[in-house]
Amino acid sequence: MKAWLLNDFGLDNLALGEAATPDPKAGELLVKVGAVSLNFRDKAIVDGFYEPHLVPKPLIPVSDASGTVVAVGEGVSRFKVGDRVNSHLYSRWIDGEPGPDEPAYCFGMPLPGGLAEYMIIHEQSAVRAPDAMSDEEASTLPIAALTAWFSLVDYGQLQPGQTVLVQGTGGVSIFAVQLATALGAKVIVTSSSDTNLEAVKKLGAVAGVNYRTCPRWEEQVLRLTDGKGVDLLLDVAGGEGLNQSILATKAAGKIAQIGFLTGQTTTLSLMPLIFRQTTIRGIAVAPRSAFDRMNAFLNEHAIRPVIDHIYAFEEAHKAFEHLAKGAFGKVVIKVS
Ligand SMILES: NC(=O)c1ccc[n+]([C@@H]2O[C@H](COP(=O)([O-])OP(=O)(O)OC[C@H]3O[C@@H](n4cnc5c(N)ncnc54)[C@H](OP(=O)(O)O)[C@@H]3O)[C@@H](O)[C@H]2O)c1
Repeated sequence: MKAWLLNDFGLDNLALGEAATPDPKAGELLVKVGAVSLNFRDKAIVDGFYEPHLVPKPLIPVSDASGTVVAVGEGVSRFKVGDRVNSHLYSRWIDGEPGPDEPAYCFGMPLPGGLAEYMIIHEQSAVRAPDAMSDEEASTLPIAALTAWFSLVDYGQLQPGQTVLVQGTGGVSIFAVQLATALGAKVIVTSSSDTNLEAVKKLGAVAGVNYRTCPRWEEQVLRLTDGKGVDLLLDVAGGEGLNQSILATKAAGKIAQIGFLTGQTTTLSLMPLIFRQTTIRGIAVAPRSAFDRMNAFLNEHAIRPVIDHIYAFEEAHKAFEHLAKGAFGKVVIKVS
């Protein structure tokens, strides 16, 4: 099969080549990949700053895929040939609390990803792709949408009328705006772009703050919330900004620590954290059961993924470059 292979770190070392088409073993599905979507994780893996010691080489990158089952291994009962499915990043985390070794079973690193004509997905890990969505749309769900969903619903227990802050207008954050709005919450967005802040209001956001022109964005968020702060904050930026996130969140509020766009370490000021009694939880997407529940919600509320651009399979480099310079919503690669 045709496959993109990461032979060493750096986009220059991602090359289109050939790999053996895998055979589905007992319980596994062979999926003809229709589309993949890119996440910051995929870029970080290619660039060598996402757990580089765990990256096998060569690696078929990109975790999030949708496609059609073309063959099944022995004993498969959840799916049949012809079904449309999604991959699910934490392929062994099905329900309940995560096990200690979930990252060892993630697609796109260390397991082979979807940037190839075919991929193997275990039937327990696969999720039925929403009927109303094309492969290109469905491919955006496994990390970006599900992380937003888990943060807002499973962890955040978000209630109508509550206020949420989401950072930036990338994959996770745009889904968070759509989902939180559908849940009846008020969403405040930060972005480096006034144009994107206007665009995100069309998706339901009630207010925006430009974190470039207003570096003390947390003060603006306090003004927008009568000095209280938001109920729930989805932090995708990470780094030193976590201290600002604490100040922007109400007393006894919650922060979902999702990302590390500005840094994987932080110096935490403990006194504001203690005085504000903030709960910070690290988020690692979600179990598969949450994916099934999210898909029902997406269907019920007719939520369609926001795709910035769809690239052809041969244009994988351009797709990664687009993600690097910032996309509004998702960047997708059509595979077949
Ligand atoms: N833990 C998990 O389960 C999980 C799941 C998904 C993603 N993540 C992580 O979450 C982060 C976002 O992922 P993604 O795939 O959504 O990325 P993405 O699609 O590449 O989005 C990046 C966007 O974030 C915004 N941004 C950058 N720096 C910012 C800052 N200092 N403050 C506020 N916004 C900023 C920018 O939006 P503007 O152009 O509007 O400024 C940028 O376009 C990454 O670190 C990723 O690895 C973690």
